[in-house]
Amino acid sequence: MNVVIIGAQWGDEGKGKIVDFLAADAQIVVRFSGGANAGHTIVLGGERFALHLVPSGILYPDKTVILGSGMVIDPEALFGELRDLENKGIDWKGRVFISDRAHLVLPGYREMDREADARRAKPIGTTGKGIGIAYALKASRDGIRIADIDNIERLVNLGSEDREWLFQWKDRLLPLKIDLAAYLRSHRNTWRLFEGAQGALLDIDTGTYPFVSSGMSCAAGAAAQGGIGPRAIDRVLGVFKAYSTRVGNGPFPTEFADDSPGSLSQYIRKVGNEYGTTTGRPRRCGYLDLVALRYACAVNSIDRLVLTHLDVYDALEEFEACIGYHIDGRLTEDFPASIGDLEVAQPVLRTFKGWKRSIGNTRTYGDLPLNAREYIEFIEEFTETPISIISVGSDRNQTIVRESPWIR
Ligand code: GDP
Ligand code: IMO
Ligand code: MG
Repeated sequence: MNVVIIGAQWGDEGKGKIVDFLAADAQIVVRFSGGANAGHTIVLGGERFALHLVPSGILYPDKTVILGSGMVIDPEALFGELRDLENKGIDWKGRVFISDRAHLVLPGYREMDREADARRAKPIGTTGKGIGIAYALKASRDGIRIADIDNIERLVNLGSEDREWLFQWKDRLLPLKIDLAAYLRSHRNTWRLFEGAQGALLDIDTGTYPFVSSGMSCAAGAAAQGGIGPRAIDRVLGVFKAYSTRVGNGPFPTEFADDSPGSLSQYIRKVGNEYGTTTGRPRRCGYLDLVALRYACAVNSIDRLVLTHLDVYDALEEFEACIGYHIDGRLTEDFPASIGDLEVAQPVLRTFKGWKRSIGNTRTYGDLPLNAREYIEFIEEFTETPISIISVGSDRNQTIVRESPWIR
């Protein structure tokens, strides 16, 4: 069975936590896109693990994790991450693999990424991990894949420094190399999770272009880049927060205008710990944007939503969510492609009552406060998508399951 998990907003929705939680019942976790720009956090009994390249099933001793074909991999970052895991007592040897179709991030890419962004009249605010450069070279057919490392003919265009650098990692990378499609075929009756990075609104095609990342973070990416075909996907889960955040630049219609001390924006950043896992940058905060979420559901065939960070609203008297936009005097409920339209969009907000109670220890849907359930049921109605899992804190066990994704 194949379950895809993607971010349904601008990243950092809590994908790592949810993949880790659901991996208890899976045998294989395939991360299908992105690179070290991602930061997926897992909290286990108070201990925090921040993963960037390694898929979020790694904390279980018996799960196989695979870096999929759509990923762009910096070997230095990867082996650094594996060493850190090892230091925390995680034995990864023999169960971490890399698709031979995945691309490499070479040493100069990070600087090129930062320089390219600084040259832009309106910088994207990239993570500076060389991601955009690797994907651009992939698209221009000048990239280097894992499959190319021991094929000297594919390396002729590299400078001698890059070739030497590659040579240094070759012996560590090659034992991890697999043919992903063949691997999955030979492990036929397994339950697999396909872990997305970034989010639907940062996807190169479905996102707020050009303020996006450059990989496929949409659900379709799991098929193109996860080693399976689109019809083999049994379920698509879209993870979203009770509010919205965004790191880096680009339009964000529901962003709080006031980010001064004492503002709701600063309150949510503090309670939700909204600082980038990869760069430490403060995340921009705003109310939930249901127009954007419904769009993400539609273009990704999300059949179940996963709501996270509901606990961050615990102390609020009331809060709002966006159900439409006013754009130049016109009302719309559709998510526009034009950056200009998104920049001037005035959100139409609906008010919800808070619950003024801590929900971090709640484990069943019926035990959630009525006002929290009313918020959840409004989101389901607006997006026409059931919410099957609700996260009420960062720890693995702070999770309410209404319906398991493993049931067909
Ligand atoms: P990802 O990139 O989607 O995996 O998300 P990140 O790990 O970058 O950011 C999510 C942050 O929220 C992390 O610090 C998580 O530990 C934390 N988190 C996840 N789920 C919840 C939740 O339900 N409530 C709270 N308060 N924090 C959460
Ligand atoms: P996870 O998987 C949030 C953002 C960057 C920047 C834009 C392009 O943790 O959800 P890039 O370095 O990819 O070229 O930057 O995309 N971005 C993310 N924002 N979460 C992420 O990943 C992100 N990965 C990239 O901040 O605005
Ligand atoms: Mg993240």
